[in-house]
Amino acid sequence: MENIIEVRDLQKEFSRRRKTVRAVQGISLNVKQGEIFGFLGPNGAGKTTTMRMLTTLLPIGRGDALVAGFSVKRQPRKVRRRIGYVSQLGGSDLPATGRENLILAGRLYGISRNDAEKKADELIELFDLGELQERKVKTYSGGQKRRLEIALAMIHRPEILFLDEPTTGLDLQNRTHLWDQIRKLKRLGTTVFLTTHYLEEADELADHLSIMDHGKMIAEGTPGSLKRQIQADIIIIKPQDYQADRSQLAESLSGSDTINHAKVNGDSIYLYVENGTQTLPRIFTWLEKRHISLESVSLSQPSLDDVFLKYTGRSLRDTGREQIQ
Ligand SMILES: Nc1ncnc2c1ncn2[C@@H]1O[C@H](COP(=O)(O)OP(=O)(O)OP(=O)(O)O)[C@@H](O)[C@H]1O
Ligand SMILES: [Mg+2]
Repeated sequence: MENIIEVRDLQKEFSRRRKTVRAVQGISLNVKQGEIFGFLGPNGAGKTTTMRMLTTLLPIGRGDALVAGFSVKRQPRKVRRRIGYVSQLGGSDLPATGRENLILAGRLYGISRNDAEKKADELIELFDLGELQERKVKTYSGGQKRRLEIALAMIHRPEILFLDEPTTGLDLQNRTHLWDQIRKLKRLGTTVFLTTHYLEEADELADHLSIMDHGKMIAEGTPGSLKRQIQADIIIIKPQDYQADRSQLAESLSGSDTINHAKVNGDSIYLYVENGTQTLPRIFTWLEKRHISLESVSLSQPSLDDVFLKYTGRSLRDTGREQIQ
């Protein structure tokens, strides 16, 4: 399959009050035509900055990208005509109805009134907005508004749709509904580039994933191949009333020949093993000998969060939570 996006050594720095933030530090990636490409990373990783450069909204610092065959740096107008973008904050005209918004967006792209109406009806059908089309957008729920925003970004039939955290703030039901809509767009041939910090979303939707942290790419591949890189089952133990140093305990445990490696994460210790069910009884015996009792224990197959933990030493869930508070 052909690459529809090629990013080469993309960089961006922001300077504010004599402090420089290196938001994007040399990113390279390829997106294949027709795929859903997931861009995963915690708050402040540089996802929005990268996306704003690719969509011509922010001048590129260094490097360049080809989007739909055109250089973002030298041919931004050609790029703009071929892409749709829904920002993290969204942007629909609240006092107008959904249908009015769609027609207006079409007219802004130079589509004739007749064609804009036709296209609006098509999108209303595709995004399940029939019952809402004559209602003012300010009365829409969060999920409904998000659906309209995506429909608005599709009005000029873009080849590539950029979605910046499309499901943030939505409940699970709205989120899964939106996932269905995004899959529908893919079936119709649209390439979708989306950012998220929901691991489930990346796992569920993305054909290919890049994981970003602190302005750099730390891993990339299909969700399956990334998880296979962990090559292990994971036993998570949480010692009860444990006063001693957990990293020392992790170190002693990783000395055992059945444990590939051990990592402390919060109150728990993650043990990466070849075969969880065989290793578990041995770990119990080992702990019992040392009079260490457990508050909880679990055995799991690798998840994308484990991939993140492996590459950064932190859990994506924890980093997200810390910074939102
Ligand atoms: N206009 C700006 N001026 C100064 N710093 C900025 C600007 N825009 C972004 N940054 C900084 O660049 C870094 C990356 O921000 P960015 O918005 O790209 O992260 P993100 O991965 O989209 O995070 P989130 O998941 O919270 O949306 C952050 O440290 C941010 O504070
Ligand atoms: Mg962002």
